Amino acid sequence: MADLSVDFCGIKAPNPFWLASAPPTDKEYNVERAFRAGWGGVVWKTLGEEGPPVVNVSGPRYGALHGPDRRVMGFNNIELITDRPLEVNLAEIKAVKSRWKDRAVVVSLMVPCEEEAWKKILPRVEETGCDGIELNFGCPHGMSERGMGSAVGQVPEYVEMVARWCKQNTRMPVIVKLTPNITDVRRPAEAARRGGADAVSLINTINSIMGVDLDAMAPSPHTDGKATHGGYCGAAVKPIALHMVADIARSPATHGMPLSGIGGVETWRDAAEFMALGCGTVQVCTAAMVYGFGIVREMITGLEAWMDEKGYERLSDFVGRAVPNVTDWQHLNLNYAVKARIDQDLCIKCGRCHIACEDTSHQAIFATKDGMRHFEVNDAECVGCNLCVNVCPIEDCITMVPLMNELDARTGRYVDGSVLPWTAHPNNPAVRQAAE
Ligand SMILES: Cc1cc2nc3c(=O)[nH]c(=O)nc-3n(C[C@H](O)[C@H](O)[C@H](O)COP(=O)(O)O)c2cc1C
Ligand code: SF4
Ligand code: SF4
Repeated sequence: MADLSVDFCGIKAPNPFWLASAPPTDKEYNVERAFRAGWGGVVWKTLGEEGPPVVNVSGPRYGALHGPDRRVMGFNNIELITDRPLEVNLAEIKAVKSRWKDRAVVVSLMVPCEEEAWKKILPRVEETGCDGIELNFGCPHGMSERGMGSAVGQVPEYVEMVARWCKQNTRMPVIVKLTPNITDVRRPAEAARRGGADAVSLINTINSIMGVDLDAMAPSPHTDGKATHGGYCGAAVKPIALHMVADIARSPATHGMPLSGIGGVETWRDAAEFMALGCGTVQVCTAAMVYGFGIVREMITGLEAWMDEKGYERLSDFVGRAVPNVTDWQHLNLNYAVKARIDQDLCIKCGRCHIACEDTSHQAIFATKDGMRHFEVNDAECVGCNLCVNVCPIEDCITMVPLMNELDARTGRYVDGSVLPWTAHPNNPAVRQAAE
């Protein structure tokens, strides 16, 4: 049986499935039940400084984007950091950690961007016996307007400065949680590393307005007729998170830095994808809020079964394996060619592939044969774009078949397995110039 245990920048856990800092980790009751369900770790809901806690709206703080089957595809929130007193949270963290020594208990923190504020809170957090801290430089609403959260995460100099303060004032591992609301996520990641952070986690939520209530003429959901942007998360943000993770994993300045992947993880497969791109752990929020803590059981058994099937004994056998295969466009092989193939036994003759290809792609799917409704690809026109695969309602009905040692009927070019990237292509002006 595959070994799922992790040592993430010195923080040990029986598995890589951690709950992200959010309502699922807001109190002892939740975390206790999460650990009983099997979660390997938690990042406790973000704590703020001593004093009167923040106040949340009492109107709706969540919004959702549903698929046609009411599946929650995207989720949005305007919740702030914990609205429970600091000392209550600290006492609960201590109690939980003393009972669950084998689980990772990381505490998320957000205090004003002043060294004194960090110096004050760090020893109190350390005293709980928790395993590490995560700096919330990502929250995009409410707290950012007060100069915290993403207001810090968007300025690499601040990220570096606060990470350094934390490293200087605590023995605990420091994880910096990044905001996706930035042009180039590598900059704050590099800054975190310069500041001495042990790891980065990403992504926090994305600025969003979920929709507009056309009767109230206000974004929805709204509080007493007014609304503000919220943070977007859930399945819909996974592609954005994977891209940002890959960018950091393959950048020479941050390569090898421990990464915790967050954003739309719902299944073991989502987790494995983040890990293949370099993440040592994953964190989950929306899926736990929508389906409950029990989803971790399928995550654990699913990942174990897949690793056994692939012959991976431990996570390090595949973590980061996909990183060398992420490249820039100009390095893709322009000599490679595929053609769409329709499985006539699976095809239900709905015609969607034909309409899509005919109207917006390359007019490469015939709709009739011998006067009958029949869908077949015309190799002489097919560019292998994959649009028909994406619109076909039947899984695996259309597949992309690579050409090998044969003529491409569209280009007349013999495909022989040779590699020709744009960097060496004769149509590239730079290549032509160099040849002259
Ligand atoms: C209701 C809600 C509250 C959240 N609160 C926090 C928070 O206090 N601190 C934090 O770092 N992230 C917070 N997040 C962000 C999540 O930790 C996570 O980064 C984000 O939701 C993406 O993961 P997901 O797609 O699995 O939800 C919150 C998210 C939601 C939905
Ligand atoms: S791959 Fe693109 S061009 Fe080829 S048949 Fe499908 S939609 Fe048309
Ligand atoms: S979209 Fe799929 S099922 Fe529909 S006609 Fe095309 S191949 Fe057949």
